[in-house]
Amino acid sequence: MALWGGRFSQAADQRFKQFNDSLRFDYRLAEQDITGSIAWSKALVTVNVLTNEEQQQLESALNELLAEVRANPEQILQSDAEDIHSWVEGKLIDKVGALGKKLHTGRSRNDQVATDLKLWCKEQVAVLLEATRELQSALVATAQANQDAVMPGYTHLQRAQPVTFAHWCLAYVEMLARDESRLQDALKRMDVSPLGCGALAGTAYEIDRQQLAGWLGFASATRNSLDTVSDRDHVLELLSDASIGMVHLSRFAEDLIFFNTGEAGFLELSDKVTSGSSLMPQKKNPDALELIRGKCGRVQGALTGMMMTLKGLPLAYNKDMQEDKEGLFDALDTWLDCLHMSVLVLDGIQVKRPRCQEAAEQGYANSTELADYLVAKGVPFREAHHIVGETVVEAIKQGVALEALTLAQLKQFSAVIEDDVYPILSLQSCLDKRNAQGGVAPQQVAFAISEAQKRLG
Ligand code: ARG
Repeated sequence: MALWGGRFSQAADQRFKQFNDSLRFDYRLAEQDITGSIAWSKALVTVNVLTNEEQQQLESALNELLAEVRANPEQILQSDAEDIHSWVEGKLIDKVGALGKKLHTGRSRNDQVATDLKLWCKEQVAVLLEATRELQSALVATAQANQDAVMPGYTHLQRAQPVTFAHWCLAYVEMLARDESRLQDALKRMDVSPLGCGALAGTAYEIDRQQLAGWLGFASATRNSLDTVSDRDHVLELLSDASIGMVHLSRFAEDLIFFNTGEAGFLELSDKVTSGSSLMPQKKNPDALELIRGKCGRVQGALTGMMMTLKGLPLAYNKDMQEDKEGLFDALDTWLDCLHMSVLVLDGIQVKRPRCQEAAEQGYANSTELADYLVAKGVPFREAHHIVGETVVEAIKQGVALEALTLAQLKQFSAVIEDDVYPILSLQSCLDKRNAQGGVAPQQVAFAISEAQKRLG
């Protein structure tokens, strides 16, 4: 049953109908549409459009429909209804007859779809918040187990200074904590009910929209009907949050892909999240991580697509806005999948400590220590930097580490160098010295782990 028709004498072209209908994707809003309809029926009692008995009849039929939808959501796709709003209304009329035709009094699909989608977004935020916290917990647990796993830290993908695998994990905890707070922030702004704004100018029935908002679990009701039916900022915000979150996950994936290469060899990924080659028997490919890295693209695409759809749209509702759903659904599904998959990857990770340590010892990652040592002996830093640069060139020439040069060799570069330089050049000393807040010193890392554990509960 179409929701309109009185004005039309010709049926829609089948090709147009297929192009126009949104049921094949907005069926995911079925529960929200039913919840919104129940609340609306209660509002209609307050303005004497429905009696209490009629409302109760509608509510129990809608609850029955809700149970049917939960048991078998796919059944919706069998219908040729235009969209989920037509589907729910049609089913209701099937159940209660003419009474069902009263439900749409004072309501438009424009405030209805805005309400349904906001309710859906609010639920998804809760799911995403949980997944974000789960991944943070997995990272903290991995950090805890790898506090003593020293490895090279990089800038420009050149070995820079030693860090620990724990410190690397905690860097991603910070990113995810910001993702979490961005979601909480978006949730506050979207917690405003559109219902009761009608098609664009407001509903002609004097409904208490604040009370109605409360029934639906919204903190309040929106202030301007024109804005309300055309506002999809919450979609843009969630797509932005997803885009940033996926950028983080793609970097996480890329780091691990690199650590897992034969060249780095810092860790081995579990068989559970890798796959083989059809030709090369020796291969074990990091597919889960590559997909996480790759799927970042479609999420950025959804954000850009939605921005472009909304750009330049006149007030108020336009059918362009039906384009808000597929990209959003796909982007949030993708983000959630990638968060879950990242937990799975961490679960089976094996850090190869001897190899990490060996790599940290190579590459002159302790050069800054030697410069700081000279500074402590009164050499100005800029001069110390130059001296150490020359010393590194000599060590490279000999093919040895800085600490493998004899004292006599070191003294050629600076007379102030004494035997006490050797302990300073050790990896442990490199770590221990970085003991200001946020540094890689074991004490700081242990503190960061316990703070994160407290926050994550
Ligand atoms: N299927 C539409 C959407 O997703 C519902 C709103 C339709 N409103 C209208 N006036 N045609 O946006």
